[in-house]
This record gives sequence, C-alpha cells and structure tokens, in this order.
Amino acid sequence: MRIRAQSEINNSGRGRIGSLKAAAGRLSREQAKEALVRLDAAIGPSRGRQAREAMVKFLNTLVPTYSWVGIYAVEGTDLVLDAWAGPAATEHTRIPIGKGVCGFAAKAARTEIISDVSKDPRYLECFLSTRAEIVVPISNQGGVIGEIDIDSDQLDAFSSVDREFLEVVARKAGTIWS
Ligand code: SME
Repeated sequence: MRIRAQSEINNSGRGRIGSLKAAAGRLSREQAKEALVRLDAAIGPSRGRQAREAMVKFLNTLVPTYSWVGIYAVEGTDLVLDAWAGPAATEHTRIPIGKGVCGFAAKAARTEIISDVSKDPRYLECFLSTRAEIVVPISNQGGVIGEIDIDSDQLDAFSSVDREFLEVVARKAGTIWS
C-alpha cells in the first residue's frame, strides 16, 4: 500500500497514481514512522544487493514525491549505480567522488538536500522532470560505502523529515550491505 499525501486523500482516495503523484505533498512524520515499519517487512531477511533492490523499489512505490530512487556503491574513487527504481534509467551509472551532488555528498560524508536543482551548479542532470534532489551517504566503520540518491519532480520536495527518515534507512542499508 502506498502512503498517500494529504492532498491525494482529499482528492479522491481512489489512487489515480499519475495525476496524484504531481499533486503529492511532502512526507509527514507519521508517514515516515509507518514507512520504517513497512520497510523492514519489505526487506525481510534479505541482505546485500537483494536488500538494496527491495529498498529502492519500496521507497519509489510508497512515497509519492520520490520520483526516482537509486543506491550507488563506492568502488575505488567512483560511485557506481547498484540498484534503482523509477520510470527511466539514468546515464549516470558511474560518478567520480567529488563530482555532482552525488559525488559531493560522498566526499563530504553528509546529506545534501537540493530544493531547486536548476540553482545548484554541482547538479548533474539525469531527468528533465527533476526539480529537487536528496543524497544520503551510507557508511560503515570504515567510512562512506554508498549512498541513497532520490530525485523528485516536485520543487522543494525534501524536508528535515525526509532527511531523518532516509538517514535511518541509510543506517539500515549499511548494516546489511553484504
Ligand atoms: N543528479 C545527480 C546525478 C545522479 S542522477 O540524479 C540519478 C548528481 O548531481 O550527482
């Protein structure tokens, strides 16, 4: 079951996904809490790549503002796309650490929220429809091992709730990385 934005619930409640996605609001704290419980169920006992596939699919399906969801893995000096879910593939399957918003977040080892991608000179375009982006590093004791990258078709789509929620998801991804 998808978490429905308030606007969607008021709209119809019958789940016309396409049009409702465009009208979707931000993730609420209650929805984030519920999503964490459901995420554990979606991952089940799986680990590694299989768990990451389940995570990206879950996030993309459940949260209306998460238009495209990917997990990159650190490989030497690059980030390599490991799992993704969304309407289209990205050409950015390998990003040098330090380049783009993704590379910057990996290098700085901190979450980056871009409210309007057209105003950030670091932004590497993947999809014409993207308006906002969040990148959350995944770490273990040795440092950054990967990251969650989410593109939204909605301007200013990500709040501190998304940050906190996705940082919990990233910690989870780190504990079952291999
Ligand atoms: N926009 C990212 C590149 C990855 S795509 O969004 C999937 C960046 O600026 O690093």
